[in-house]
Amino acid sequence: MSSEQICAGRTVIVTGAGRGIGRAHALAFAAAGARVVVNDLGSALDGASTAETPAQQVVAEIEAMGGQAVANGDDVADWAGARNLIHQAVDAFGGLDVLVNNAGFVRDRMLVNLGEDEWDAVVRVHLKGHFATMRHAIEYWRGESKAGRRVDARIINTSSGAGLQGSVGQGNYGAAKAGIAGLTLTAAAEFARYGVTVNAIAPAARTRMTETVFAETMAKPENGFDAMAPENISPLVVWLGSPQSAGVTGRMFEVEGGKVALADGWRHGVAVDRGARWEPAELGPVVADLIAKSAPPEPVYGA
Ligand SMILES: NC(=O)c1ccc[n+]([C@@H]2O[C@H](COP(=O)([O-])OP(=O)(O)OC[C@H]3O[C@@H](n4cnc5c(N)ncnc54)[C@H](O)[C@@H]3O)[C@@H](O)[C@H]2O)c1
Repeated sequence: MSSEQICAGRTVIVTGAGRGIGRAHALAFAAAGARVVVNDLGSALDGASTAETPAQQVVAEIEAMGGQAVANGDDVADWAGARNLIHQAVDAFGGLDVLVNNAGFVRDRMLVNLGEDEWDAVVRVHLKGHFATMRHAIEYWRGESKAGRRVDARIINTSSGAGLQGSVGQGNYGAAKAGIAGLTLTAAAEFARYGVTVNAIAPAARTRMTETVFAETMAKPENGFDAMAPENISPLVVWLGSPQSAGVTGRMFEVEGGKVALADGWRHGVAVDRGARWEPAELGPVVADLIAKSAPPEPVYGA
């Protein structure tokens, strides 16, 4: 166990924690002293159901380290399943302090070929899968707050560069991940009164999800540091889940290897206001002037 148990005594839910980045989060929270609810329904990369039980395997790993964990196999985007997940944490460990929304899958395709089912499935698992768990968690925390018990809780959401900058071939996924960025801002503003902070990360790591998306960055370890290991994402998430991060809310962090960056989101930019309605034909030079005075947008991944 780690000597720095900054989450000692805290109860943490990590969704999609059977594999990849979520598994690394679950193990890191356990090492930091937390009791962990390891959620994963064991789906294939495209969301198809399988007979795999990765959540149980991660629970066994945590128990082998001397930690405490329980497995949960609910679908995070199912309303009753998300409620059950929150209730299981409270029933098993007597409360809930941290919700890490991480579960999801991809069905990549160019927009011109993207099917309705591929849109619905990916937007559902990521965007509804974040809202459903947050909604049931905040209901629990609001109840605690109203009952006069001190709440010092955290939500950490998982966005993506695909949502912040765009990504060719990932229109469904990018839209869901951009939606998560927006949802994080509103939730942070609404939940502050209950003692709950809400932040998000845009990670990059080697998992089954990224084997094809950024194959060129699948470099092997150099100098003993594997910059693409999913374990590199978790220290920031554990810190965000700890009492030490109080006061940090509504933020988006980009995390990869040893790099932690604060993303600069949509802001009001260069403006012109003449105090009267424009004629459409007048706007060409006005827009050209605004563009000339602004920073160019970030490149879209894969463009
Ligand atoms: N790997 C990266 O570089 C990267 C980059 C940006 C964002 N992300 C995001 O990080 C998160 C983790 O991705 P990963 O790369 O570890 O992928 P992964 O496929 O290794 O892990 C995702 C896990 O979520 C589980 N899951 C899927 N649908 C679920 C559902 N409905 N309910 C419960 N569990 C479900 C899967 O079974 C899987 O174990 C995802 O939200 C992903 O979009 C990853």
